[in-house]
Amino acid sequence: MQHYSLKKRVLVTGGAGFLGSHLCERLLADGCDVLCVDNFFTGTRRNIEHLLGNRSFEFVRHDVTFPLYVEVDEIYNLACPASPVHYQFDPVQTTKTSVMGAINMLGLAKRTKAKILQASTSEVYGDPAVHPQPESYWGNVNPIGQRSCYDEGKRCAETLFFDYYRQHKLAIRVVRIFNTYGPRMHPKDGRVVSNFIVQALNNDDITIYGDGTQTRSFCYVSDLIEAMVRMMNNADNLSGPINIGNPTEFTMLQLAETVIRLIGSKSKIVHKPLPSDDPKQRRPDIQQATERLGWQPSIALEHGLTHTIEYFRALLRSGNP
Ligand SMILES: NC(=O)c1ccc[n+]([C@@H]2O[C@H](COP(=O)([O-])OP(=O)(O)OC[C@H]3O[C@@H](n4cnc5c(N)ncnc54)[C@H](O)[C@@H]3O)[C@@H](O)[C@H]2O)c1
Repeated sequence: MQHYSLKKRVLVTGGAGFLGSHLCERLLADGCDVLCVDNFFTGTRRNIEHLLGNRSFEFVRHDVTFPLYVEVDEIYNLACPASPVHYQFDPVQTTKTSVMGAINMLGLAKRTKAKILQASTSEVYGDPAVHPQPESYWGNVNPIGQRSCYDEGKRCAETLFFDYYRQHKLAIRVVRIFNTYGPRMHPKDGRVVSNFIVQALNNDDITIYGDGTQTRSFCYVSDLIEAMVRMMNNADNLSGPINIGNPTEFTMLQLAETVIRLIGSKSKIVHKPLPSDDPKQRRPDIQQATERLGWQPSIALEHGLTHTIEYFRALLRSGNP
């Protein structure tokens, strides 16, 4: 619905997290009123502190598994812990956040006639049998494993989005996000980029699981946010799902060596066994994003890593990581 102020009022759930805080910044820069909702499970006040003085920014501490009654024009639904250490900490709450969070936000979108975007994930593809993964691939997901609370929760959220679309004609957008990195990643989230950087800054051994030949692709946060905003605003009412990520692959060994070189670290590389259900390769097929959104990533890995290293260096120096 339109508001008296005529400024677009945008709700960002999970707005105090890594991606959410960058999205809030971007939306404010675009002239929106931003309502950031977060329960601070993995997000922090520090991520949004610099926004609190902005009159177009409002923060509400709230858990999305409970209904939320606000008036908004657009909803970006990002609330959900994203890294295995965090989403496996309380797996029942993780599934609740994805599923009940989606139901509550879709209900809100229905009432307010807001457009709603779901931050889905490449994990919906599970351990894929197809490389790279196009959106048409249905995935290969273990329904009862330790990662299932996240993977199946996100899959169910996608189902709910498409059922609200078919049943209630909601304007939905679903993006499947692949590995993204950048400043404000959680220093203890166990994800490979933050792990390697923190280990290298401390001159600790860098742990590689397996032989290090498994590949990942890494998208810098500003590229990801650009794609999300384009998806929300796309004129064709494209619902998706649409893959967002950087298709350039690096082996874990290459990543570790680059981080060590950029930091000038004395860290050594050590190998540990691969955890169960760990995918051997993950790469997005971004043809749809390129054709339909005119988007492709523009930040090279070394450039993005340099910014991320600066962030973690300052965080570790602050003594309050
Ligand atoms: N970063 C990535 O590489 C990546 C990849 C795929 C998908 N995603 C998705 O993007 C979204 C954001 O991820 P992120 O990397 O910023 O992770 P994050 O953990 O930094 O952010 C998630 C935010 O959601 C909040 N949150 C968790 N449960 C909540 C609840 N019940 N109610 C309200 N807030 C809650 C957390 O406190 C945190 O601020 C997630 O939905 C994630 O699944 C991220």
